[in-house]
Amino acid sequence: MTPLRVVSGSANPALAAAVAERLDADALGVVLERFPDGEIRPIVGHVSGQDVYVVQPTAPPVNDNFVELLLLLDACRRSRAARVTAVVPYLGYSRQDRRTVSGQALGLRVVVEAIAGAGAERLVVIDPHTPALESVSPIPVETLTAVPLLAERVSPVRGGDTVIVAPDAGAATLAERYAAITGHSVALVRKYRENESSVSAIALLGDVRHRPAVIVDDMICTGATIEAAVGMLLHHAADIVVAASHGPLAGAAHLHRLDVRRVLVTDTVAHAAVAPPFEVCSVAPLLAEAIARMHEDLPLHDLFAPARMGPRSA
Ligand code: R5P
Repeated sequence: MTPLRVVSGSANPALAAAVAERLDADALGVVLERFPDGEIRPIVGHVSGQDVYVVQPTAPPVNDNFVELLLLLDACRRSRAARVTAVVPYLGYSRQDRRTVSGQALGLRVVVEAIAGAGAERLVVIDPHTPALESVSPIPVETLTAVPLLAERVSPVRGGDTVIVAPDAGAATLAERYAAITGHSVALVRKYRENESSVSAIALLGDVRHRPAVIVDDMICTGATIEAAVGMLLHHAADIVVAASHGPLAGAAHLHRLDVRRVLVTDTVAHAAVAPPFEVCSVAPLLAEAIARMHEDLPLHDLFAPARMGPRSA
């Protein structure tokens, strides 16, 4: 069988190493040269004839990590890898899946076409922001989900009266996926985004009074969405926990001051130091299992099972 090779970009080497360890393989490091003007030049080792999985989430700094991903894919292809798969557990630009004002680009499409053009035959992502990813991608997309992992970790608030809260309409389907696993009911906050870092919660649909609440979202970036939802729930819910698949946490330090008991994110984005209320759940077991199956051309459908209940609608 073609040998399996995990290639680690510089965005999240700890995750790549954890995945490789579970696969009983070494993560092939990359020499990353940097030119004085900021240009990067990654150099991969021996991948000729191998089934290569390039692990590189496009986390902040998004553009640097994205260009590094493209260069790594091209390097693997030109080094005659037998097959190249882009493992991008957090895929930046996913929120640019439609044009909301004239003059905008369709960022998501540009990004996935570049990944395909650089040499990836498949793309692996976790909980993408939008189901549009599959339809704009020229290469097959394997969509994994961290929802069961996170749902299990919020189980201390499991109980008849806990409520799963979507912090905006786009998170409603995600909340239903948590609810299907935990058996809890769902409430919805209606939000209004004033600008990239300012969000207002304008309505609460559903009964949260004196009930433990778990706010769920696909990602926490500035934290404005979560802060607005917490503000809406604070005087009603008994106890608040937050869970998000991705934590790029660009300017989300203010979440430490919020009156929430726990904020769970995964390690799709690397976190240098984590202090309460933040907690990190690793997706390494999920990625390792998916890669092991892809390597053997085995089906992934039971890994996909929770996602089949419905991807995010917006
Ligand atoms: C928006 O549609 C997304 O699902 C997230 O709610 C949003 O991207 C979170 O960003 P922030 O933390 O900056 O509010």
